Amino acid sequence: MTKKRDRRITAIILAAGQGTRMKSSHPKVLHTILGRPMIAYLVDTLKNLGIDDILVVVGYQAEKVMAALRGDGLRFVVQEPQLGTGHAVQVAMTAVPVDVETVMVLCGDVPLIAGDSVECLYRLHQEKGAAVTVQTVELVDGAHYGRVVRDEQGRVLEVVQAKDAKDRPEVLAIKEINTGAYCFAAAFLRAALRELTPSPVTQEIYLTDLISLARRQGQGVEALRDADWPNLLGINSRAELAAATQILKRRLNAQHMAAGVTLVDPETTYIGPLVTIGRDTVIYPNTYLEGHTSVGEGCLIGPNVWISDSVLGDQVVVKMGCVITESRLAEGAQAGPYSHLRPLSDLREGAKVGNFVEVKKSTLHPGVKANHLTYLGDAVIGPGVNVGAGTITCNYDGVKKYQTTIEAGAFIGSNTALVAPVTVGEKAYVGAGSTITEDVPPGKLAIARGRQVIKEIKKRG
Ligand code: UD1
Ligand code: MG
Repeated sequence: MTKKRDRRITAIILAAGQGTRMKSSHPKVLHTILGRPMIAYLVDTLKNLGIDDILVVVGYQAEKVMAALRGDGLRFVVQEPQLGTGHAVQVAMTAVPVDVETVMVLCGDVPLIAGDSVECLYRLHQEKGAAVTVQTVELVDGAHYGRVVRDEQGRVLEVVQAKDAKDRPEVLAIKEINTGAYCFAAAFLRAALRELTPSPVTQEIYLTDLISLARRQGQGVEALRDADWPNLLGINSRAELAAATQILKRRLNAQHMAAGVTLVDPETTYIGPLVTIGRDTVIYPNTYLEGHTSVGEGCLIGPNVWISDSVLGDQVVVKMGCVITESRLAEGAQAGPYSHLRPLSDLREGAKVGNFVEVKKSTLHPGVKANHLTYLGDAVIGPGVNVGAGTITCNYDGVKKYQTTIEAGAFIGSNTALVAPVTVGEKAYVGAGSTITEDVPPGKLAIARGRQVIKEIKKRG
């Protein structure tokens, strides 16, 4: 959108609808694709094009939608009640600055539209000086979408909603459908919105009626047939949500593979749009990488792993069955099989957690090993510490959480309970099976368990 700074644009995203066909108690536009709310994709695309005045029309559960998008520099208008897409733009128009030349309208439920598609639509609109330019695609079956009716010369006459065309089979047979993306000349839009009347069939006020209106007024109407139909289908049902997920997954996975990442089975690998992965990393099947996650080079991840909002350095190994959330694994760190790294787990260089180890809000300094059956919560564990099998930090007394500190080079014997707050000093030893309730000084051995006794076995009877 190179010239947009001297041609003022406002983009309106329609997001007030409930999404009845989703059969959901959440607003449709917050349903996620690869871990990100669908509407966020559209916002990203518009921002990447340099469109900075973005107006989101909210209504159904408006607070939730606004909260999800807060901090993105968007403006919101509330449409209450929701009387249709035309009504939504009527409401939004009150917030469009007077000097804006072009108003773009996009649907929050058509989130995968590519920047190129938006750019082409805008360019055609500008070149033709049209009052309205609508984006369309050809489908084998027009399904529930609005049909684009053209005259013999190929000029667009109107867009007819499928619901309103029950007795017009020739219209339903049309394969060209409206994607729900438009550019309007602001002056035309402002005036024409006042003329809209509700559909006699659904009582909704349709934005699409502006097309026939412009035609009747002799104003320029353009339509751009976009070839990128898979990314332009609206999401109105769970099935369409799943289809969009597949499409986006394949697109993103292809990009990662092209950039040098091995996906053993791209069909079962789900990588969110904000994830970055270094080259020569190998990802095994059934792996999910979501949120703001970055993975370094030469890592091995999976199978059956879920990582969200985490940072992995180079040469990190995450074996089968791990769940990792808001955590960091520095170069050469290892987790799994079956480790659970909960928020604020920080594994430094070469630290290793093994099978059935859970970590939460803890730092494991370089070379720490906790290889088996352990819980480390609210702990700081110094370099080179060996945490024996079955060690538990007892960090919670039922009211508050307390810190455990294990200093460099200490050795924690198997099946130790560390009752926090507690510190095990540098190079100290804790005997297996101990319940440690007091600090252990550096270099000392602590044993806190019942002494073994050997007794004769009394013969019975
Ligand atoms: C709409 C178009 C249809 C097009 C299809 C493309 C109309 C009348 N129909 O149909 O021609 O083929 O999109 O996907 O425009 N919304 C509001 N306020 C409302 C109603 C809807 O903000 O009062 C929002 C919804 O949240 C949604 C978008 O507008 O994001 C489209 O509404 P939806 O009900 O999905 O319309 P479709 O039936 O898909
Ligand atoms: Mg829709």
